[in-house]
Amino acid sequence: MSDPARASSSELLMGVRVVPSILSADFGRLREQVGEVLEAGARIIHVDVMDGHFVPPITIGPLIVEALAERVREAGAMLEVHLMIERPERHVGEFVKAGAQSVTFHAEATPNVAYTANLLHDLGACVGVAINPATPAPALIDIAHELDVALCMTVNPGWGGQPFISHSLEKLGPMRATVGEAVAVEVDGGIDVSTAPQCLRAGANLFVAGSAIFGSADPAEAYLAIARSVDAE
Ligand code: DX5
Ligand code: ZN
Repeated sequence: MSDPARASSSELLMGVRVVPSILSADFGRLREQVGEVLEAGARIIHVDVMDGHFVPPITIGPLIVEALAERVREAGAMLEVHLMIERPERHVGEFVKAGAQSVTFHAEATPNVAYTANLLHDLGACVGVAINPATPAPALIDIAHELDVALCMTVNPGWGGQPFISHSLEKLGPMRATVGEAVAVEVDGGIDVSTAPQCLRAGANLFVAGSAIFGSADPAEAYLAIARSVDAE
């Protein structure tokens, strides 16, 4: 891997890490709340982008990524953007330009999965592909060699605070087998101190948590509690 920035992001993605999702943060105090979890040790911050088409809600765009990029970089951390948008190939460039070091898009959202992955490679960003609960793990077979992250949705995308779909656990083994050990396997949705260790045992190494962290009165402590639950395995 020749690009040093991409190499350091890729190294962060390969650890066992809890990844705070800002979807449940207080947007009036966003930089402050992100600062709290960075100070507690978070090294990947997850930004959920929704377009009102691929999923019903509309959330945020590149301006928020840009507003957080410097604070996150200062901490030696990285921004991971999770695009829940149709035709992500039309937008990945804006997010990388705004400061995303890794961009994850949905396999269900484009007929051009390999093309989108190549665009991201050319832009020097890490590449993630996400699959919904109804999409089987082998959907990633032909793209596995292009990936830095394989994201297994453990709820149907669109909203924070939904309950973990427990049969996702059965998908994580096949997903790890499909992508191998050199690709991060990430879970997103319903992750907390009880579901994170179950996902770790089933093969995941990155644990996105939104409401379990930012829905708590003390996000730093909530982050640490989930981090301890996976370190303890
Ligand atoms: C949901 C998003 C998630 C969301 C998870 O579609 O992709 O990243 O923030 O929220 P919790 O952790 O509350 O399930
Ligand atoms: Zn997400």
